[in-house]
Amino acid sequence: MSYNNNTENKPESSNERRKLFVETFGCQMNVSDSEVVVSVLRGTGFELAENPGGADVILVNTCSIRENAEKRAVNRIRQHLGEKKRRRGVIVGVIGCMAQRLKEQFSENGIQVDIIAGPDSYRDLPSLIAEAGTGQQAVNILLSREETYADISPVRMDKNGVSSFVSIMRGCNNFCSYCVVPHTRGRERSRDPGSVIREAGELVDAGYREVTLLGQNVNSYLWRNSSNGEKVDFAMLIERVALELPGMRIRFATSHPKDLSDKLLHTISRYSNICKHIHLPLQSGSSKILKLMNRGYSREKYLERVGAVREIIPECSLSTDIIAGFCSETEEDHLATLSLMEEAGFDFAFMFKYSERPGTGAAKNLDDNVPEEVKIRRLNEIIELQNRLSFESKKTDKGKIFEVLAEGASKKSPYDLTGRTSQNKVVVFPAENHKSGDYVNVEITGFTSATLTGKAKNKS
Ligand code: SAH
Ligand code: SF4
Ligand code: F3S
Repeated sequence: MSYNNNTENKPESSNERRKLFVETFGCQMNVSDSEVVVSVLRGTGFELAENPGGADVILVNTCSIRENAEKRAVNRIRQHLGEKKRRRGVIVGVIGCMAQRLKEQFSENGIQVDIIAGPDSYRDLPSLIAEAGTGQQAVNILLSREETYADISPVRMDKNGVSSFVSIMRGCNNFCSYCVVPHTRGRERSRDPGSVIREAGELVDAGYREVTLLGQNVNSYLWRNSSNGEKVDFAMLIERVALELPGMRIRFATSHPKDLSDKLLHTISRYSNICKHIHLPLQSGSSKILKLMNRGYSREKYLERVGAVREIIPECSLSTDIIAGFCSETEEDHLATLSLMEEAGFDFAFMFKYSERPGTGAAKNLDDNVPEEVKIRRLNEIIELQNRLSFESKKTDKGKIFEVLAEGASKKSPYDLTGRTSQNKVVVFPAENHKSGDYVNVEITGFTSATLTGKAKNKS
């Protein structure tokens, strides 16, 4: 290869800073990781390109959660490799969960990328890019027990400047049998609370009004101070963030039902700036399936936790994730999911068809034996029911006044603003004299299953 990108030797004063394009698939954690990647590479002389056509280095941050997610990423990587054919010297890298899952095998499908880097190797990207510049494939797929990128201030790439994320932990120890995440992101580790507060404080200074604390299972956040033995759990962490950043709205995701404590629920109820919304993935309403999924709770335990939420935080909204057609799911199991959804009255849900992931417990030990057409039919029934539940949940909001954090112009009209309530429901309302970043009291006048509409009003 004639083009040798030697990052370290680039003069500081060079005005031809190299251009980086990062494309992100997958969850909020990946979005947050891409911001770390940009931060690391900015420090070595890169600037962001608006599109892949103008980039010297193209990185695709990938997701492995379902087969479709991988297919989408592979299609994009193929397109980027086309760019490489047009412009010699362009470096194309695959990073994130799919890089970790497939390792060097990634290139076995005829997709010859220059860099393969897993989620714990982003500090190493400058040298991986330099190595790739010599024409060799550069690979780092080491998982770490310690890496939290605590000292790296992410370069924010969100569009609205109002709401952003801080990741508080990495990895997962739960090994739900269907899930690839513990395999792609390694063991759970919590980040120093001081660094979480510092990063959230930087968001305040940059004008942000809302922060979402991120982890695969925030309820098991636990940080131990090695010098004095002090322990900080998630309830303590969120309380500290709420107290230190009073003007900031605080959200968090994801809560695992098995670890959702009353202590945390009381903390959420005590602080007005902690949003009254819990994302509590159910996966299935059948105790038999939950056991096969290795979720660590039964149908009864899940409903007991929903009861605790309702009692301790009556105004709290609940959203969930559901998988249709997991191994050996019968019609009776499926009906148990539908009845639980109805009983819990979810305000919102992400719903998926089971997709077997190589290397997971389910792939090794269970038979993916629900026929595709049955999976699709069950998923459709779940979606249909959730549409009704979402509609009913919005209906009860009509006539109420909510404090909405405006996030920007509505997609449909520049004269309308869109924002969210503490319960995470989207509200569209005429902007009048309000702007993005304002807290606005809005009276709800209409709704669909997806959105509330209303009008700004002063609370009387
Ligand atoms: N850590 C979170 C979310 C993980 S991934 C949690 O514990 O809930 C987000 C969602 O993707 C999961 O909640 C699950 O509903 C879904 N999911 C994960 N693996 C899947 C698979 N193999 N097939 C279908 N859906 C899956
Ligand atoms: Fe996956 Fe379960 Fe961990 Fe969530 S808690 S990331 S579903 S293994
Ligand atoms: Fe997230 Fe997908 Fe990885 S959901 S943790 S990017 S497998």
